[in-house]
Order: sequence, then structure tokens, then C-alpha cells
Amino acid sequence: MMVTALDGPRALTAVEIDDPVADETTLLVDVHAVGVSFPDLLLTQDRYQYKPDLPFVLGGEVAGIVRSAPDGSGFSPGDRVVGLTGVGGAMADVVALSPDSTFPLPDTVSMSGGAALLFNYLTVHFAFVHRGRLEKGDSVLVHGAAGGVGTAALTLAPNLGASRTIAVVSSEEKAAYVRSLGASDVVSTDNWRDEVHAITGGRGVDVVVDPVGGDRFTDSIRSLATGGRVLVMGFTGRDIPSVKVNRLLLKNASVVGVAWGSWWAEDPGRLSSQWSELAPLLASGALTVPEPTVYPFEAAADALLDLEHRRTVGKSVLTLR
Ligand SMILES: NC(=O)c1ccc[n+]([C@@H]2O[C@H](COP(=O)([O-])OP(=O)(O)OC[C@H]3O[C@@H](n4cnc5c(N)ncnc54)[C@H](OP(=O)(O)O)[C@@H]3O)[C@@H](O)[C@H]2O)c1
Repeated sequence: MMVTALDGPRALTAVEIDDPVADETTLLVDVHAVGVSFPDLLLTQDRYQYKPDLPFVLGGEVAGIVRSAPDGSGFSPGDRVVGLTGVGGAMADVVALSPDSTFPLPDTVSMSGGAALLFNYLTVHFAFVHRGRLEKGDSVLVHGAAGGVGTAALTLAPNLGASRTIAVVSSEEKAAYVRSLGASDVVSTDNWRDEVHAITGGRGVDVVVDPVGGDRFTDSIRSLATGGRVLVMGFTGRDIPSVKVNRLLLKNASVVGVAWGSWWAEDPGRLSSQWSELAPLLASGALTVPEPTVYPFEAAADALLDLEHRRTVGKSVLTLR
């Protein structure tokens, strides 16, 4: 599924290309499912921070079955795996993956669940553990809570010690969905600041996960408890907000940037250290990945347009096999 022009999702084109060639450093994987994320949409519109040369294959994460693996990689043909291709390369029938960014998919997780896993859960794990210093008993407010990053934040936070998760969503359908994922409280995008004030008894929250930006931002800072942190994840609302830093001073508050991709690119070994913390949670069932919204591979453009127009509930995945 190739981006041949930066004209948005409709310019995606299904093309025939040769399979990647196996070498001594990469695994070949038959792709069963591919994760679809907001950055994929931004890439089709030339709005992402990374700008691959045209044409390029879209997509960053897959779940599939190993076709071939180099000796000593720890993988064998037939293994169920999930893997990251980086910026682009995943929306394909067969992909070449580095062993550093490939992980065994636990039997408890389906192929479509696997394709919904790495990008968002590792991002959110990085955000909570390395950037947000989430502590046992913290309360967490999640904007865009029914989205990909949002659902990962809602389901991972309790496993990392959060005592309460408050989901911000824009529709009744999304509200029902985040309730089904165990959100402690659900508030509406229309009136969320007042509702958060009321349900926290005026204290505010310890951590805000913000993939939306725009006009949510100042009210997110206002909604922090003393010592609270706003995690800057992205800008689905398009506008990039500014901070009046006196608001931070008044509450010993922090605004913290989260750039998971550039963090692990500095040292791919960081991925396996993150995975070693997530895998036991998945294997024991303490962490369950919600089943994503599934589209056929050929409907990649529809999946991206649904993200753009806020129609998607949960993470989106394309299936090939
Ligand atoms: N920092 C990192 O390392 C990192 C890693 C991965 C992704 N990201 C970023 O995180 C953001 C979220 O990605 P995602 O895959 O979770 O996206 P997603 O599944 O589309 O979810 C985004 C949510 O944002 C909300 N939203 C509010 N205003 C919107 C608008 N104008 N257009 C679209 N959505 C809007 C929607 O919820 P409501 O309708 O309920 O408001 C939607 O559910 C993106 O900006 C992405 O680039 C950052």
C-alpha cells in the first residue's frame, strides 16, 4: 500500500512489488495484520515530522508469522510475532524486520490485537514510566481516550499503579466503549474541565495524557493537582498550544514532551527492555489489548479517513490473511 503523492489517504495505491530479500540480519514475516495510526494519516498529508522520499510503503507495525529467520536471532519459521518497521514499510504482504524490533506474540493476543499493540502500548509505557513518573495511587486523565493512544493509556495505567482513570470522549458511542475498557470515570469533551473539577473534589489529577492539544491544553494544566504532569503526546486537534508558565509555577506542575520514536531510535535495545515489562502483563491476562476495528487491507484509505474525521472507536487494523 504505497504513498505515491502527498494528497491524503485517497492517494494511497495498492501496487505489486517484489518481496524483500532475506539476509543475515533480518527476519522475513508473512503479515497477517497491520496497525493503522494517526501518524500514518499525517504521512499521507505531508504533515508528519518525518518525511520519507516518495514513493514509500505506509505503516509502522505488523503482526504475522515468521517465514525465515537468521541463525541466532532467537526466532524460527512459524513463530507468531509482532514487529515495528519504523516510519513506513508495514502495509505489505511480507516485511523484513530487525530482531531488535520483533517480539513473540503471546497466545493470549490475536493477530489483529497484536497489530494494535506495539506502537501505542510502548509509546504509552514510555510516557508513563520514563516521562510522566507515574506513581502508585496517581489519577490519570486521558484525552482522546477512545483512540489508539487513549485506549492504550486507559488499559495500561492501572497496571502501572494508577488508582483512577478519567476518559475524555466526544460521543456516547465512545463513552460506552471506554466504560467497557474499565475507565473509572467518563467525561464529555463539551464540559470536561468542570466535570473533572467536580469528580476530583477540586483537587485535580496527577497526570494528563494529551494526544489532542489545541484548546484542551490550558484547561489540562488548570486541571492538574499540585505536582501534576501533562504529557504532550500529539496534536490531533491540529493547533499546537502555548503555555503560560506562571500556571506551572503556581502548582509545581510540569509539561513533559513525549517522543517515543526518537527515544528508541537512539538505542533499539530500549524496545526489548520495554517489552520485558509488558510481556508478563499480557501473558498473565493482567493487561488485555482491546480488539481493534478491523478493515480489509484494500480499505486502508477508509481506515485513515475514519481517523481523520473522528469516526474511529479504538485502534484500527488492516487484515491480510
Ligand atoms: N508522542 C509519541 O511518541 C506518539 C506516538 C504515537 C502517536 N502519537 C500521536 O498521538 C496522537 C493520537 O494518535 P492515535 O493513533 O491515538 O489517534 P486516534 O486513534 O485517531 O485518536 C485520536 C483521538 O483524538 C481525538 N480528537 C480530538 N480532536 C480531533 C480532531 N480534530 N481530529 C481527529 N481526532 C481528534 C479523538 O477523540 P474524540 O473524538 O473523543 O475527541 C480521537 O479518538 C497523534 O497525534 C499521533 O501522532 C504520538
